[in-house]
Amino acid sequence: MTHISDSMHNLMMFYKDKSCLVTGGFGFVGGHVVDFLLKSGAVVHALDIDTSPERQCLINLKGLRDKINVITADITDQNTMEDVVKETKCSIIFHFAAAATVVEKAMDIPYATVMANTMGLVNILEAARKSDGSIYSILFSSTDKVYGEATELPYVENVTPLRAIGLYDATKMAADVLARSYAEVFGVNVVTARLCNLIGPYDFNIDFRLLPKSMKNIYCQGQPPELYFHSLDHWRDYLYIDDAVRAMLLLAKEKKCHGEIYNMSACHFASTPTMIKEVVNKTVEIERRFNGKIAQQILEQGAKIVMGDAKHIVIEKQHLSGDKIKDAIGFVPEISFDEGLEKTILFYRQYFQDFKQGATEE
Ligand SMILES: NC(=O)c1ccc[n+]([C@@H]2O[C@H](COP(=O)([O-])OP(=O)(O)OC[C@H]3O[C@@H](n4cnc5c(N)ncnc54)[C@H](O)[C@@H]3O)[C@@H](O)[C@H]2O)c1
Repeated sequence: MTHISDSMHNLMMFYKDKSCLVTGGFGFVGGHVVDFLLKSGAVVHALDIDTSPERQCLINLKGLRDKINVITADITDQNTMEDVVKETKCSIIFHFAAAATVVEKAMDIPYATVMANTMGLVNILEAARKSDGSIYSILFSSTDKVYGEATELPYVENVTPLRAIGLYDATKMAADVLARSYAEVFGVNVVTARLCNLIGPYDFNIDFRLLPKSMKNIYCQGQPPELYFHSLDHWRDYLYIDDAVRAMLLLAKEKKCHGEIYNMSACHFASTPTMIKEVVNKTVEIERRFNGKIAQQILEQGAKIVMGDAKHIVIEKQHLSGDKIKDAIGFVPEISFDEGLEKTILFYRQYFQDFKQGATEE
């Protein structure tokens, strides 16, 4: 039986019976928030532009569809969003819907990315502004990328300037600034969490994100993970999804946090080559428990450096100070990188094995 701490119990009790709207609920982060809210006894409305039952996502794979109100809608549609907020009678909104694969999608569909990432939030803020105080809080998922390239690390809220230039980064920065505007000008209770790179099961942005992509290479294609030449000098923060979810649920709960902006402190800060090595080593360690021959193959393959220039603006070093969130809600990561990595690798190992088996049976 899993032990639940008193603080976690209190957090779950707060959400019990609350009507919560989760935009982007069929995505990676939104799915985990939906899962936590359901465990807490909340009434959950999960909104997404793609809610297909066939979609590979946490809600479908964990069989949660029947336990939630599924809303298929486009966050950029202002009237629809106002209707959704009214009809669901939600008091807390978790806003995750976005074109969120960072550079790739944003480069292909810049206008749609601006509409989804910036105007999507504005539509939520507007619906809240017109709601006569029925919205207790809105949690907006911003990103460490709003800081752009900084001369000094770590990035500190309200000290480090926001210098995002890359398209995804700029759309999130615009939304981040507008969240603050709506809080200060209209008193909308929005709290902004600037997230770092989250790792965990059920991230199906497989072809775009380092960890799931590495797992696909290893377990689906028998290939080594790839390290892009231009990312050899990159440094990134990492945090396990359960810690991020806990922090965001706390921020949305605590009144003193509303109207504020918080960096999400990481459990690990590493260069991308180090991260890839850690992924390979951990996969080998795990695989040895199942199949020594495959473990040896993964070890010998290592990682592969792929040439090619970045066609987009990439930030070299990103690192967040976690002091403000620690002072406000006492948040520090509880799940170590090693533990989070293990859980994540075990998930994808199983997922890709089932996937391959399914493909052979067809
Ligand atoms: N995952 C991370 O490491 C990370 C880091 C920093 C910030 N974030 C932010 O957290 C949020 C969630 O990210 P994620 O990793 O779950 O991404 P994701 O791509 O898994 O989820 C985003 C969801 O939004 C939905 N969506 C896209 N456009 C939409 C629209 N117009 N209307 C309605 N739904 C739409 C997608 O279908 C998807 O289900 C995003 O806002 C992202 O910018 C994530």
